[in-house]
Amino acid sequence: MTTPLIDPFARAITYLRVSVTDRCDFRCVYCMSENMTFLPKKELLTLEELDRMCSTFVKLGVEKLRITGGEPLVRRGIMTFFNAMGRHLESGALKELTLTTNGSQLARFADDLYAAGVRRVNLSLDTLDEAKFAEVTRWGRLPQVMKGIDAAQRAGLRIKINAVALKGFNEDELFEMTEWCAARDMDLTWIEVMPMGDIGNESRIGQYWSLKDLRQSLAERYTLTDLAERTGGPARYVRLEETGQKIGFITPLTHNFCESCNRVRLTCTGELFMCLGQEDVADLRPALRNFPTMDAPLEEAIRAAIALKPKGHDFDYSRQTVDGRVSRHMSHTGG
Ligand code: GTP
Ligand code: 5AD
Ligand code: SF4
Repeated sequence: MTTPLIDPFARAITYLRVSVTDRCDFRCVYCMSENMTFLPKKELLTLEELDRMCSTFVKLGVEKLRITGGEPLVRRGIMTFFNAMGRHLESGALKELTLTTNGSQLARFADDLYAAGVRRVNLSLDTLDEAKFAEVTRWGRLPQVMKGIDAAQRAGLRIKINAVALKGFNEDELFEMTEWCAARDMDLTWIEVMPMGDIGNESRIGQYWSLKDLRQSLAERYTLTDLAERTGGPARYVRLEETGQKIGFITPLTHNFCESCNRVRLTCTGELFMCLGQEDVADLRPALRNFPTMDAPLEEAIRAAIALKPKGHDFDYSRQTVDGRVSRHMSHTGG
């Protein structure tokens, strides 16, 4: 029996987030600058390497894989990888295979994702207004995403909408987004904007809309019941009694959820980040590439990395002098 991955603070690591590409077909203003430089493709782990890496984590007790990016569905051949991970679902070792997507390619991939064993998808959508959508994503088209949502629901995938709370941008859509999600039987999670990566001239401090205020506005219209349930993730949930739906709040800046953290993040180049908001990192590539037929070195490298997991992040706008405490982009580590 393999010993599970336990970090120095006695937290079991059962959740791996995997960024399969740093590229994206959108350029959301809080995520990327307009003229992003991406990694040369040859630096990415191949699909076979991604498979070997993830399979090793599964062997070491990871039960949930979330595939992210960038936009995971723009990675060429990505369905081969999803299909390969399906075998761990079949064996029972993996409990959940899922992804976070911007929805632009979902119309094309929804059926295949379902066939591979995916049942839930988190979809990023910050506004229901076509013009505002084009503004916030710079390159995105809302009707294309709506087609993706339709296709995903038809295929049987459950969708959770992630909306980044942006001051002066989607504040006025709070109720419309709530009702729209309720009507489509989708949960909705609001995310506070996090200071990651250079985004050009935009200011995140100007974008910051506190979820405490958002929650208060919701409470003026609906009856909110706190739910004790945690998905092992950073979100806290409430139920809206009037609509029956679940609303999540991800508040890395106003509420620290690190004590129950169960996750680490693999980048598309094979580095393992122990925390979204810290620089602690281990390069797993040497163990992967120098020992193509031996599992032990990679397993040891993973265990050594987990031993470095810090207690928590230290995002804090008040201590910031520059607007971007963590220099890497969210798309590099996969959110
Ligand atoms: P489920 O709980 O499975 O629905 O997923 P999730 O909320 O963990 O994943 P998702 O990809 O939807 O992430 C939503 C947001 O939460 C993203 O903006 C992530 O960057 C953020 N997030 C996820 N994990 C962490 C974390 O450990 N720390 C911080 N600060 N933010 C996180
Ligand atoms: N702060 C908060 N959320 C962000 N996302 C991307 N960049 C940021 C940021 N700086 C969100 C996306 C997506 C999720 C994976 O991360 O909108 O929902
Ligand atoms: Fe792409 Fe998501 Fe970043 Fe938007 S937030 S640019 S959709 S990776």
